[in-house]
Amino acid sequence: MAQTLRVGLIGAGGIAQSHMAAWQKCPDAEVVAICDIKKAPRVNTASRFGISPDNLFAGYRKMLEQVELDAVDICTPNAVHRAPTLAAFQAGCHVLVEKPVAISAGECEQMIEAGYDANRLLMVAQVMRFQPTSFAMKRWVDEGLIGDIYWAKAMYLRPRGTPKWGSFIDEKMSGGGPCYDIGVHVLDLCLYLMGFPEPVTVSAGTYLEISNRPSLMGHDPSKYTVPEDFAVALIRLATGATISLEVSWALNIPQHLGNCILVGDKGGMQQNPPTLVQERSGMLINSTPQVNPWADVNGFEEEIRRFVQAIRNGEPSPVPGEQALITQRILDGVYKSGQKGKEVKV
Ligand SMILES: NC(=O)c1ccc[n+]([C@@H]2O[C@H](COP(=O)([O-])OP(=O)(O)OC[C@H]3O[C@@H](n4cnc5c(N)ncnc54)[C@H](O)[C@@H]3O)[C@@H](O)[C@H]2O)c1
Repeated sequence: MAQTLRVGLIGAGGIAQSHMAAWQKCPDAEVVAICDIKKAPRVNTASRFGISPDNLFAGYRKMLEQVELDAVDICTPNAVHRAPTLAAFQAGCHVLVEKPVAISAGECEQMIEAGYDANRLLMVAQVMRFQPTSFAMKRWVDEGLIGDIYWAKAMYLRPRGTPKWGSFIDEKMSGGGPCYDIGVHVLDLCLYLMGFPEPVTVSAGTYLEISNRPSLMGHDPSKYTVPEDFAVALIRLATGATISLEVSWALNIPQHLGNCILVGDKGGMQQNPPTLVQERSGMLINSTPQVNPWADVNGFEEEIRRFVQAIRNGEPSPVPGEQALITQRILDGVYKSGQKGKEVKV
């Protein structure tokens, strides 16, 4: 591998801008080529971040053929994660791919297998894990302050927040609605903090009551083809623990509610605001961090730094496909259960 890790960006839309800014802060890696099927995003992103106009492509296969790359960063719509991942592995590249890893567990399995066949790293960009509060929560778990976690609440509820741009509301491109878009962040964080126990069943309700008609949100409701704008689920895990998942782009509630709450036999904790709860002196006491050593960490920069570090040191993926597969199986279960109106095996 060259001194500097050579990276190709696939998909130069909204989130790619945050990735590009983070790549520029990564000392031993450089984005040298950009691919986007649309001219405006690839040209604008290239000019904003100083990428040579000679290394801009409309198709990722051509980019993989013509530019010598060590890794790719895939920021395309969810339905376009699997194919570029397989092509990149075939070209001998390591892969960082945006969340959700794919639009079905079957696709995710193919991506994992292709990574093993190519002996290359697959990392899923679950940026919430790399945020300051998540580091604090992980430390509380690792130090045994919570004990055995038997319940988690993963909640990401927007009163009004249906996406107006990109392919999020088009099922063919997104594969799903808020479950895949924002539910995946809080579900991944809870599973990560619980040590990724095996899921057993899901009982879910999925609802589409607001985003498919004109409202305050400014998107085109006639183009809304994903099955839900609100989902609620009870997830049973092999350890006996349960997770409650609640997620919405549009719901008649007075305010945004975003949190991961994890409860164990020794203590509890929540993400927002970061709080540790423990029984002491016969009382239930809340502790809030006054100084968080990770306070200045930028999630995207940390995610990319760890991707590069894992490649350089031959370390395991910081967010391996196997973990994303568990999350994906649960989310697939949420849709299946919502559709059938009964509990399903995952
Ligand atoms: N981590 C986060 O917080 C976060 C936030 C937003 C989006 N995302 C994820 O990032 C991905 C992209 O979302 P976005 O908001 O940037 O969407 P976007 O629509 O703004 O950008 C996607 C880009 O991919 C391009 N594209 C589509 N098909 C392509 C192909 N075959 N080859 C090359 N380029 C192609 C589009 O032209 C577009 O420019 C999604 O998977 C989404 O879930 C993550």
